[in-house]
Amino acid sequence: MRHLLGIEPLSPADITAILDLSDSYVKLNRSNQKHTNALAGLTQVNMFFENSTRTQASFELAGKRLGADVMSMAMQASSIKKGETLIDTALTLNAMHPDLLIVRHPHSGAVDLLAEKVNCAVLNAGDGRHEHPTQALLDALTIRRRLGQLSGLKVAICGDIAHSRVARSNVQLLTKMGNEVRLIGPPTLVPSGAADWDVSVHGDMAEGLAGVDVVMMLRLQRERMDGGFIPSEREYYHRFGLDAEKLSHAKEDAIVMHPGPMNRGVEIDGEIADDINRSVIQEQVEMGVAVRMAAMDLLMQNRRETKPGVML
Ligand code: NCD
Repeated sequence: MRHLLGIEPLSPADITAILDLSDSYVKLNRSNQKHTNALAGLTQVNMFFENSTRTQASFELAGKRLGADVMSMAMQASSIKKGETLIDTALTLNAMHPDLLIVRHPHSGAVDLLAEKVNCAVLNAGDGRHEHPTQALLDALTIRRRLGQLSGLKVAICGDIAHSRVARSNVQLLTKMGNEVRLIGPPTLVPSGAADWDVSVHGDMAEGLAGVDVVMMLRLQRERMDGGFIPSEREYYHRFGLDAEKLSHAKEDAIVMHPGPMNRGVEIDGEIADDINRSVIQEQVEMGVAVRMAAMDLLMQNRRETKPGVML
């Protein structure tokens, strides 16, 4: 594959291959010598049109550990502010011969559009409410390492599903790998299209969490809401915030996940988020660097095979 724009086009074998390579990068990242030269001589440009802490840092570190020249553009200060279109900005950068563009954009589909206009590989770091493939892959790696399997599990994805690219990518990945996925949230935050997904929808946490192996919490994406989707944060926490009582309906050893950034006391109780016996939130961040190294490494390997000479 030339680009990594979403989970949708990936097969279970593709997913497994990325995760297998990621495991070896986890090992490397835990060692004292964290460098490889898999991307030596190549240029990686990060274009984040939306705020990001962990994802941008993670891609930057991943590229550096692979030996690439990494440039992170300050998009807030870019010519986009002077009226240049996304495509013009991309073409300008393209003329400098990057090998890999990592793009985050608030509009769904913007990253796919950009990928059509440039001749380097494009990796989607989150587009609107559409897809966030490396987040789903890092979640999958965390689950596989913690629970020893990535199929036959019951996984609940809870909260603001309607605005979440993390939920969309995770639903695709987890169903492809043969897991049972349940979506839990108020009707206003469950997308109408969910009826066509291979999932069950629940409006009640106790019902949806009954017997699950994995509880994945989502942030209320206020920046994507243009109206009152919930009565109040207090009411929301009461009904959908993960606390000890609600978690007691899941399996005794169920793990708790959150992609971050987390709003403690809104979608999750701070004590649960910090409970090292249940929460794998920090592990997700660690897996993120490894998964991004693997994804970039594989994209560049594909490029070498399909365009020999270009990479020499
Ligand atoms: C997520 C995102 O940006 O989609 N965060 C992330 O990548 N770690 C989820 C969110 O912003 O709530």
